[in-house]
Amino acid sequence: MPDLSINFAGIKSPNPFWLASAPPTNSGYQVMKAFDAGWGGAVWKTLGVPVVNVSSRYGGVNYRDKRLIGFNNIELISDRPLADNLREIEEVKKRFPNHAVIASLMVQTRQEWHDIVRQSQDAGADGFELNFGCPHGMCERGMGSAVGQEPKVLQMIVEWVMEVATKPVIVKLTPNISDITEPALAARRGGANAISLINTIQSIVGVDLDLFAPYPIVDGKGSNGGYCGPAVKPIALNMVKNCAQHPDIKMPISGIGGIENWRDAVEHILLGASSVQVCTAAMHFGFGIIREMTSGLEQYMVEKGFNTIYDMVGKALPNVLHWEDLNMKYKVTANIHAEKCIGCQLCYTACEDGAHQAIKLNAGTRVPEIIEENCVGCNLCSLVCPVEQCITMDRTDDGTQHLTWKERIAAGTAPTEFNDERAGGRHHWVPVPSAALGKERHKTLPGTARVINGETVVPTEA
Ligand SMILES: Cc1cc2nc3c(=O)[nH]c(=O)nc-3n(C[C@H](O)[C@H](O)[C@H](O)COP(=O)(O)O)c2cc1C
Ligand code: SF4
Ligand code: SF4
Repeated sequence: MPDLSINFAGIKSPNPFWLASAPPTNSGYQVMKAFDAGWGGAVWKTLGVPVVNVSSRYGGVNYRDKRLIGFNNIELISDRPLADNLREIEEVKKRFPNHAVIASLMVQTRQEWHDIVRQSQDAGADGFELNFGCPHGMCERGMGSAVGQEPKVLQMIVEWVMEVATKPVIVKLTPNISDITEPALAARRGGANAISLINTIQSIVGVDLDLFAPYPIVDGKGSNGGYCGPAVKPIALNMVKNCAQHPDIKMPISGIGGIENWRDAVEHILLGASSVQVCTAAMHFGFGIIREMTSGLEQYMVEKGFNTIYDMVGKALPNVLHWEDLNMKYKVTANIHAEKCIGCQLCYTACEDGAHQAIKLNAGTRVPEIIEENCVGCNLCSLVCPVEQCITMDRTDDGTQHLTWKERIAAGTAPTEFNDERAGGRHHWVPVPSAALGKERHKTLPGTARVINGETVVPTEA
């Protein structure tokens, strides 16, 4: 069987799955229950000077029949006294010595940082995560994302922590910044051992149309909160990739954001994370999701021949290029598999109104037809088609040619003028504007006037 254990910047864990610092790690009761269920580690709910929270505090984004594709909160760090949390950390570590317990910390002054690091160390924490990411409530007090957005301040606080820390220090980054690598580099300069990302994204999840107030509502009012859950995974993956590819960051990365199952976790790992953290999914479905996560990961590793987590860390990174390095000679074309088609014609509408008028309807059948020469291979029809594998995007170039934008620039063959003959769309069919108002405007039929190479033509064949 593959070995799921990790050594993350010196923090050992039986598997890469950690609970993120959040309500599921608010108490020893929850963390022990989670470890018993199979979680490898837990980042304790952020410790500091205890807060007072408001009620209510969470908002959700539901999409059609799916609950909580996005989740929003306006809660702060731990509202429990530090001594209670530290006593429970000690108890958990005694019962689960081989699991990772990481103390998430957020305080203000140098003295407070020194005190809380020392006390957490004494309680047996395996490492620290510095919360420079909370985008609401704490940032107004000069903490959380207010620090994560100021690389110099971030570096200074990391240096304070490193003065006393004898355990690994992870810096948790805020996504509420234009270039995530800047605070990551500051963390490195400050001497941190690792980074974790992302914390929540500043957001308003919705507005009550009767009360005229944003959710979650507190006595008729609301505030911006922090967004997380499945909807944020794409943003998290991109930021993990940015940090993992940066030549000067070179620190272990704990991937956080939208992880709900083993596949999400593997995506984070393939883009450079060597541990992953989960919050919303544990709040939504409970600790039991870990069983599917570990068995799914194990199965995937067996199938791919990976013996350890480190065989897969960053495996997708060489395939994430800059746009200018992609092969412009590669071509895919949509292909409708008529035997699977249910005739909904969503593909036709999408291509007709939102893409390149490359799908036509034929009399006597509800199965649309691709006009190959118009198809630019954008994928839209295959993405909207509700039937799996009904529209496939099939390769139509012969695979012998390779030309990138960078190479075109170097060779002087890229369009440089507004009306350049080398414009990419020069040879695509475009219906003449007035065709939109004709009787047959919802159909792309043989005989529809089109603009090809600047000329209006009426093709005899579709
Ligand atoms: C209700 C709630 C409270 C949170 N509290 C903290 C916190 O105290 N400290 C912290 O570093 N992150 C906190 N987070 C952020 C999570 O640790 C995590 O970074 C974020 O939710 C993204 O992961 P997810 O998509 O799996 O939820 C909180 C998130 C939620 C939803
Ligand atoms: S979207 Fe798919 S199922 Fe619907 S008509 Fe197009 S090909 Fe057929
Ligand atoms: S891939 Fe794009 S252009 Fe081609 S048929 Fe589908 S939607 Fe139209």
